[in-house]
Amino acid sequence: MMNLEGKVALVTGAAQGIGKSIALALAKQGATVVISDVNLEKADAVAGEIRGTGRKALAVACNVGSADEVNALFDRVVQEYGQVDVVVNNAGITRDGLLMRLKDEEWDQVININLKGVFLCCRAAIKLMAKKRSGRVINIASIVGAMGNAGQINYSASKAGVIGMTKTIAKEYAGRNITCNAVAPGFIDTAMTQALPEDVKNLMLSQIPLSRFGSADDVANAVLFLASDEAGYITGQVLHVNGGMYM
Ligand code: NAI
Repeated sequence: MMNLEGKVALVTGAAQGIGKSIALALAKQGATVVISDVNLEKADAVAGEIRGTGRKALAVACNVGSADEVNALFDRVVQEYGQVDVVVNNAGITRDGLLMRLKDEEWDQVININLKGVFLCCRAAIKLMAKKRSGRVINIASIVGAMGNAGQINYSASKAGVIGMTKTIAKEYAGRNITCNAVAPGFIDTAMTQALPEDVKNLMLSQIPLSRFGSADDVANAVLFLASDEAGYITGQVLHVNGGMYM
């Protein structure tokens, strides 16, 4: 089950947190993995960890908000491996603030990386996958893209946008045998959430029926399934990984 031998997978924002877990999980199932991130040093360390297990991995620096860098990333992948079978759009940031207080640049930064970044990577990925008439695109959205969250106007809008984009790509490219799905994590224990104040974390915990924060591996397992042959008849869906916090 979930054998990815012979597949080439690319994960953005894979130097740490959820992206790193996804990259390790894909490699464990046999995939060759491209670790892409703005932080090349940490991306290199993840690629080294994967190579240490006997799998192929390559680290490439890329800011997903830059069309030139995204196009260069995909060119590099083609040059190195000739194809890409699975693309996981995971890179994302937060710049939290209430509607009335949010600065224009905080809006722009989050939309540029979380929303335009996914668009740029999907466009570059689909160009390659359409030729091959196969491919898997998995976009990391968020629970707040579905339910909203006070203080995350920019972030929730970007993640709701990712969900809309995912469904549109699913419809446009199903005919080319490309599936596109989103995984929407709830509250996952990573650097992004460790920065939150203790009282906010406790409030979140009280709203999770399974009474724990998720782990990066919980998200990676969902991505792994959607990347696998076994998920071939699933497209345009949002798989929520949130301990029941939103249903
Ligand atoms: P993280 O902050 O631990 O890791 C994000 C990674 O993305 C870092 O390695 C960072 O260097 C990289 N990155 C940042 N900007 C980038 C850019 N412009 N281009 C390329 N790479 C860039 O975050 P975490 O928690 O692992 O989140 C990963 C994804 O999961 C994000 O899209 C986030 O929005 C989403 N998510 C996280 C949740 C959580 O509770 N941690 C909940 C729901 C969604």
